[in-house]
Amino acid sequence: MEISEDILTYDEQITLELRKLYKSFGYTPYKMSRFEEYELYARNKAFLPSGDILTFTGISGKLMALRPDVTLSIVKNAISDGKLKKLYYNENIYRSDGIEYKEQMQVGLECIGELDAAKVNEVLKLAQQSLDIIADGRKTHLDILHTGKEAEKNDLTYYDDLTFQGYIEGIPVKVLSGGRYDELLRKFGKKGGAIGFAVYLDLLEKHDLAEAGTGSGVLSVALPKGRLGEKAYEIFRLSGYECPEINRESRKLVFENPEKSIRYFWVKPLDVAVYVERGAADIGVVGKDILLENSTDVYELLDLGIGKCTMCVAAGKGRIPERPEKTLSVATKFPNIARNHYANQGCEIDVIKLNGSIELAPLLGLSDVVVDIVETGKTLLENNMEPIEKIADISARLISNKASYKFNRHKIDKLCKKIAANLCS
Ligand code: PRP
Repeated sequence: MEISEDILTYDEQITLELRKLYKSFGYTPYKMSRFEEYELYARNKAFLPSGDILTFTGISGKLMALRPDVTLSIVKNAISDGKLKKLYYNENIYRSDGIEYKEQMQVGLECIGELDAAKVNEVLKLAQQSLDIIADGRKTHLDILHTGKEAEKNDLTYYDDLTFQGYIEGIPVKVLSGGRYDELLRKFGKKGGAIGFAVYLDLLEKHDLAEAGTGSGVLSVALPKGRLGEKAYEIFRLSGYECPEINRESRKLVFENPEKSIRYFWVKPLDVAVYVERGAADIGVVGKDILLENSTDVYELLDLGIGKCTMCVAAGKGRIPERPEKTLSVATKFPNIARNHYANQGCEIDVIKLNGSIELAPLLGLSDVVVDIVETGKTLLENNMEPIEKIADISARLISNKASYKFNRHKIDKLCKKIAANLCS
């Protein structure tokens, strides 16, 4: 049976091209069920990017899950004899983005068993060729990293040693993610090494390549509305990126200076990192507190040295709570920072999330302590409280969208250098 390629959708054509490529390198197709026993994920939580898993009870009474990941199923089901297996797949996975569950389409491959340098290179080559197929003539960038902080930040939870990510100009997020996962294999009691990657096809549909990347060369900057944003703009202005229009009285939110190839947006301080992470802005200025609280997937380029304060634990004067008689209750606008801080000390806490006037909580007996920002210390003083522990120094940071940085590196580095020089002078 002949299938005419012009009746295929764009996704189907890309999938077909990728499958042809993988087959030409000796990879065979692997098909699997959408369902797995939930236990597989419960036992391997550390290898998954999120604990949110869609579950249901099977007819036999077993707790089942809609697959949030393909690699775990392949390692569990397909590999048994330690010999080299070269597999590719085209499957949907079900993951939450923290707000709702989403179905994501993935095409990927796994090379498992007796790995040598040639096999690893072959997979890297296939990752690059996959990017080229998807990019359809646009620039691509395959970022090869070694596991450490960088990999942790990127949700590459089960990859060890070598990790890589693929970007295409005009798409603000990574479209390919992969790496070695020998440790996962060992966890399943299986021999050898493993390397693989997945391509996220939904992103191509979402970020229509024809529309994406205007190539205008204008760098867009998300600034936080308010005093911090005004100070940040002043730093940009003094570094040679002025935009006179911005100072005029108006309710406009976007300002551009084509001569300097720069465009500014005013957004709510909490939203800056969202605009940058999702590529609506190339760079932005955001407080370190917001970055720590939300573990945003962006590059942190510079400490701008403004908006300086500290993240502290504070309590009523002379009322430093004794531990560990009962679970400490902590009122805060920053539940993740508070939880991480106490988790590092091996303490569980009861977090009470508030939206402001945090210092009221211990005064009214709502919590034992607060985790909050201290700038001048006046609020604590006037409410008869004192800082009892410093968690982190906070200041405004210049951040960049990862994909944008790959493709505008020269421009962004130049801006950083000018700003850094200006900050030092
Ligand atoms: C912040 C923070 C403290 C206060 C600290 O509150 O939550 O309450 O500033 O500043 P200080 O050390 O200079 O007194 P913010 O002004 O954002 O208001 P909020 O309490 O409504 O969040």
